[in-house]
Amino acid sequence: MGTTGPAFLVTGATGPVAEATIRLMAKRGDRLLLTGRDRARLAELDRAYGAEGQVETYAVDVTAPGGADEAAARAAERFGGLGGLVHLVGSFHAGPVVFTGAEHYERLLRVNFLSAVTVTQAVLPRLSDGGRLVYFGTPLAQEPLAALSAYAASKAALLAWVRSLAHEVKHRGVHANAVVMTMADTPQARADRPQADFSEAVTPELVAGAVGFLTSDAADGLYGSLVPVLGRFGFSTALAAGPPRGGGNG
Ligand SMILES: NC(=O)c1ccc[n+]([C@@H]2O[C@H](COP(=O)([O-])OP(=O)(O)OC[C@H]3O[C@@H](n4cnc5c(N)ncnc54)[C@H](OP(=O)(O)O)[C@@H]3O)[C@@H](O)[C@H]2O)c1
Repeated sequence: MGTTGPAFLVTGATGPVAEATIRLMAKRGDRLLLTGRDRARLAELDRAYGAEGQVETYAVDVTAPGGADEAAARAAERFGGLGGLVHLVGSFHAGPVVFTGAEHYERLLRVNFLSAVTVTQAVLPRLSDGGRLVYFGTPLAQEPLAALSAYAASKAALLAWVRSLAHEVKHRGVHANAVVMTMADTPQARADRPQADFSEAVTPELVAGAVGFLTSDAADGLYGSLVPVLGRFGFSTALAAGPPRGGGNG
């Protein structure tokens, strides 16, 4: 690993999709601050990839007041500035509208959407011109299925916001883009959905390839692009929850 690559804040680094991206970016020589609340997982990542001044971990909840600024400040301090953000923080909820309380909508909007806003607000003043910002969406934002309204709406908000942001920051040469991915083939997803066929699902390695592209000079022409990384997965058959029980109208 070199020591001259750009510096990225990687939020949600503890999730199942992140490690392949961390591996790719670390191998490329990028400097990474990996953040999350899960200290045990951060310690695992530190054992696997940690190197002082190169790949470091930091426990922080970027969705809590002050957390986003703390994370961005830490990254900028450790690396002498920031070249980008990979914002993997996310959450999921399934359930028909009639059984989904406002607290679920609030949580998903906070984690999937507002966290991107506050982290980006913290990163932008510390970001070099030509910086690269990457967010994570779902095709369900534009093609929602039954029982996924809170998740779809929160990711739709995120993707509309990314496109607006991109117009604002492109004049500094800052690239804000999103990977739009179907359900990833991870051990957690397999455990949660034993009935699903993962043979054609997108892998974290394929997602990492797209993130690697979006955080490289090869993506110099992309501002506000929503890049689909869908694999050959049939979303409707694997995730559709069927008609809600108890009188919902689907
Ligand atoms: N996995 C998929 O199939 C899939 C499909 C489409 C899009 N995506 C999106 O891709 C990104 C990465 O996927 P992933 O499955 O690795 O993500 P994830 O596990 O859903 O979330 C990533 C991290 O977000 C943090 N987080 C979750 N809930 C939180 C909360 N209430 N408050 C603060 N932090 C919270 C957790 O870190 P800590 O607990 O350590 O804080 C978690 O490790 C996410 O944005 C996800 O929505 C994933």
